[in-house]
Amino acid sequence: MARILAITNQKGGVGKTTTSINLAASIAAAGRRVLLIDVDPQGNASSGLGLPRAALGDGPTVYDVLAGRLSLAEAARPTEVANLFVVPSTPDLAGAEIELATEARREHRLTDAIAHAGAEFDYIAIDTPPSLGLLTLNALVAADGVLVPMQCEYYALEGLSHLLATIERVKAHLNPRLLLEGIVLCMHDPRQNLTLQVEGEVKRHFGDKVFETVIPRNVRLGEAPSFGKPIILYDVASRGSQSYLALAREFLARSEALSAVATGASASADDGDSDGARSKEPA
Ligand SMILES: Nc1ncnc2c1ncn2[C@@H]1O[C@H](COP(=O)(O)OP(=O)(O)O)[C@@H](O)[C@H]1O
Ligand SMILES: [Mg+2]
Repeated sequence: MARILAITNQKGGVGKTTTSINLAASIAAAGRRVLLIDVDPQGNASSGLGLPRAALGDGPTVYDVLAGRLSLAEAARPTEVANLFVVPSTPDLAGAEIELATEARREHRLTDAIAHAGAEFDYIAIDTPPSLGLLTLNALVAADGVLVPMQCEYYALEGLSHLLATIERVKAHLNPRLLLEGIVLCMHDPRQNLTLQVEGEVKRHFGDKVFETVIPRNVRLGEAPSFGKPIILYDVASRGSQSYLALAREFLARSEALSAVATGASASADDGDSDGARSKEPA
């Protein structure tokens, strides 16, 4: 089954969509099959992957999936990156949030859809809106892990504790599997004192949950979406691109080490020694 990652922070403009697009593209470039589901009515992940609203016409979107009209596989579209697929969204999705509010299994719509298509992908990433409403809740209920992009700003830690409380509530009532996958520092600028100060505090609180790879502020990352391309296709040599490729390597090493532990017991009975040797090689 696919490993499912919600990319969430209720604050806007912190790097959720940029991270969704570029981490998903970098994981796909590493040869894994990846589906990015856009559940933000702003549709920035869709347009950033070359599917602006005008290009979508009356074609399928995530709205059809949440309403139960189409399966994920029917709504998924290929992108310019091999192995990367996207279920796009449009502003109509804001209406879905209201319609769903009175429906049965309203928090489980995305979970139900993934249950039927999850085996076709290695990873499913979900880009969420800047709120903790029903759309984000659907993502948290469907996910195995939450990846939190954050900017090193003054109020960042307060926002983070609110998000963690929400994750705990979802875990207690709706999705016991959910865990904090990690925190990614985005638009990182080490020349600013505040950045270093907030980074220090986040690391003190969250230890190794904070990814070692930081994403620098990089103009090329800001430009790429207007060309409808992930950074690896727009300017692969840029610092932004290299940092998302590094983040993907770090993410895959962590994530695949976790699943090796989960399946390791049975494998070691067959060829424990050679498995152990292989697992020490860098990914
Ligand atoms: N590392 C970065 N360097 C430069 N600009 C960035 C970077 N990350 C994001 N941006 C820009 O900042 C804005 C907000 O980022 P975005 O990923 O859309 O945040 P969110 O999805 O959390 O609202 C966008 O215009 C985006 O292009
Ligand atoms: Mg966004």
